[in-house]
Amino acid sequence: MNSLLSITDLEDNIENIINLASDFKDGKFDNEEPLKDKKLAMIFQKSSTRTRVSFEVGMYELGGTALFLSTNDIQLGRGEPIKDTAKVLSRYVDGIMIRATNHADVVELAEEADIPVINGLTDVEHPCQAFADILTIKEHKGDLNRKLTFVGDGNNVSNSLLLICAYLGMDFAIACPKGYEPDKKITEKGLEIAKKTGSTITITPDLELALKDADAVYTDVWVSMGEEEEAEKRNNDFAKYQVNEETMKLAKDDAIFMHCLPAIRGKEVTSEVIDGPQSVIYDQAENRLHAQKAIMYHYLKD
Ligand code: CP
Ligand code: NVA
Repeated sequence: MNSLLSITDLEDNIENIINLASDFKDGKFDNEEPLKDKKLAMIFQKSSTRTRVSFEVGMYELGGTALFLSTNDIQLGRGEPIKDTAKVLSRYVDGIMIRATNHADVVELAEEADIPVINGLTDVEHPCQAFADILTIKEHKGDLNRKLTFVGDGNNVSNSLLLICAYLGMDFAIACPKGYEPDKKITEKGLEIAKKTGSTITITPDLELALKDADAVYTDVWVSMGEEEEAEKRNNDFAKYQVNEETMKLAKDDAIFMHCLPAIRGKEVTSEVIDGPQSVIYDQAENRLHAQKAIMYHYLKD
């Protein structure tokens, strides 16, 4: 079944999805209900504000229905096999969006389901976020001939950004402490794609090098959901990688500041930056809605 587990699943359609998201935002489908009567099951093993609300509201606005299924409440959380969950949901709904701890579980769900599965964040990727982020850069910068620099943890968000930048021919850099680089396989894949598209991928502990000529400076929490036990070590290891006014000066003067949210002010970013004039965080959050609609349309439209 055609599913969105990784940015790589949409390789030939990335620009289409961004353009479609823009069309949704511009109201081109306002008088239509392109997903009328479609049903989306949304399984959440972890907390969410943006992903849950943007999928739910998006589905409503497209004419369909979304069901919020916390794993605290459904039998999957009590150990019902992924296979049985996939087969049963496939008899009721048209698609499944899932936020899960283990990427492998989402892969299994997609293999067993007879309907599309959309990754709403795993430990490896957060593809839906990346689409909203690229739309935001396009809106603020006018084009995608740009450099995005991620400062901090080579986590799920940065993995998806690395891939999407490579496909779009954008330059991607990450400044991270040793041991916190993006996923190895994703980096290899990104480098392979970048060779074809002409983008560059830089992975370095050096903030200055990574931020040189950056058009967008992006960060995310140092302690992702599920990593709470490592909080003390991570807070120490990332201390030098806070995005503050000094860090922003290492990028282009007109660089935008980005964060997928939720953020911890005073840790990965200062209030001055996240609440300052270069910040576009609420545009990013809004664009989750438009990107989600484009993704649901792509996967669920007859
Ligand atoms: N950025 C993001 O995915 O936010 P939520 O965790 O609130 O869904
Ligand atoms: N890296 C963060 C992203 C939250 C949207 C996490 O996984 O918790």
